[in-house]
Amino acid sequence: MAFIDWKYSFSVNIEKIDLQHKELIECINQLFDAMKEGRGKNILGDIVSSLIHYTESHFKTEEVYFEQYGYPATESHKSEHAAFVKKVTDFKSDLDSGKAILSNDVLQFLKNWLQNHIIGSDKLYSKFLNEKGLR
Ligand SMILES: [Fe+2]
Ligand SMILES: [Fe+2]
Repeated sequence: MAFIDWKYSFSVNIEKIDLQHKELIECINQLFDAMKEGRGKNILGDIVSSLIHYTESHFKTEEVYFEQYGYPATESHKSEHAAFVKKVTDFKSDLDSGKAILSNDVLQFLKNWLQNHIIGSDKLYSKFLNEKGLR
């Protein structure tokens, strides 16, 4: 069993976004496996960099749709994205400088944040964007 399993309840009913969420889950799973296998700091750092990269590109996709279709909760949703990117980017700096290590707590934070954000915030735009014809 993977650290995070995709569930149908994560679906926002928009194919491109579901695929990106699956990629993010896969990236966190890779990070979990690498930590469990005792991989070195550089490998862990590279996976965290990929996670930041995939996350930023995914958030951009959602935010472009919000602007394009006039999603009412754009600003609060974008703030959640920005706060997460800052947190993970700060963590990456601390990891690089040796001030932080990758721990179960960090992995658990990433898992909880992603699941709660998909279920609690992303699913809120689902109906709105579906009604605009986006699938
Ligand atoms: Fe998302
Ligand atoms: Fe989002």
